[in-house]
Amino acid sequence: MLILTVESSCDETSAAVVRDGRYILSNIIATQVDMHACYGGVVPELAARKHLESCPVVIDRALQSAGVELADIEGIAVTSGPGLIGALLVGMSAAKALAFALNIPVVGVHHIEGHILAPFLHNDSGSCGLEFPYLALAVSGGHTHLYRVDGIGSYSLIGQTLDDAAGEAFDKVAKMAGLTYPGGALIDKLSRSGDSNYFKFPRPMLNRPGFDFSFSGIKTAVLNQIKKLEQPLEGDLLNHLAASFQEAVVEVLSCKAFKAAQEYDLKRIVVAGGVACNSGLRERFNYMAGTAGVEVYFPSPLLCADNAAMLAVAGDYYLSRGDSSTLDLNAQANWPLQTVGGPLDKQG
Ligand code: KG4
Ligand code: ZN
Repeated sequence: MLILTVESSCDETSAAVVRDGRYILSNIIATQVDMHACYGGVVPELAARKHLESCPVVIDRALQSAGVELADIEGIAVTSGPGLIGALLVGMSAAKALAFALNIPVVGVHHIEGHILAPFLHNDSGSCGLEFPYLALAVSGGHTHLYRVDGIGSYSLIGQTLDDAAGEAFDKVAKMAGLTYPGGALIDKLSRSGDSNYFKFPRPMLNRPGFDFSFSGIKTAVLNQIKKLEQPLEGDLLNHLAASFQEAVVEVLSCKAFKAAQEYDLKRIVVAGGVACNSGLRERFNYMAGTAGVEVYFPSPLLCADNAAMLAVAGDYYLSRGDSSTLDLNAQANWPLQTVGGPLDKQG
């Protein structure tokens, strides 16, 4: 099946053309990050307006770049939640209008479902080797969740953050350190030149039973440390601060994930979402995989960040079995992944 996918849940407008839920023919991403940077975070109303401007252009480019016509498209998948309500509605309106005009089915897909199925995608005929069941760690600006994934549409929640998401903590620490928004990638870059043992930051909930996370304590500890240092913070001290903070987050994420894999007897771990781009996290998971006898799968960095192609794995699966949404499909700003498949799911 040849499908068009549309993503607009936050500050990236993206459209992709994907064949059979696996082969990416195009994946166009228009980021709004520069527009929001001066506000220190995403401004929902501005995001929605920019999506409105970008959506038709991005869809056109996705079709062109894939070398296909609108008439070739057999179905559409669109992020219907969770995310910023105004932003979601723009992509969904475009997807539903196209589906109506072309008389083809449309299906709403959960944003995190897209992220954690992304390793199945590729640009060639090879296979990624990933099989169900697996443990998924979704780490992004809004999520730090552990799921057991038994198949497409079958997700059980194992643990989640009780306060900030890991990406949110990266962005807030970056802001405190005087870096621009979003700071995750900058902290990652600075960390490479820093000493991760220089400052001692807490590892919240690491030794507690269960698989929930908390990042607000690390963030406060970093703030208290910054207040004690000479301003403006720069040079080696800034690098050490970045490296020590990153190390604390990486240790908590990796230890909890591997403990969960062991407890649930899962031999595969998928790490997905924007924070999965982090070089320290990738290094640690790959290292621990060797000793734990677990296989770790990271989507490519392009497929870790918000993009439309990632929706195609679930979208193609649902559409191929005739499970489409009606045109009154609604956006859901809050939508727990483990309820995917429930009554609100396709009807909105
Ligand atoms: O999945 P994503 O693109 O958007 C959401 O769904 O939230 O994730 C964005 C988050 C931001 O918090 C950003 O700072 C973080 O991912 N991020 C990183 C890195 N690249 C992006 N965090 C740590 N290290 C990185 N290299
Ligand atoms: Zn995301």
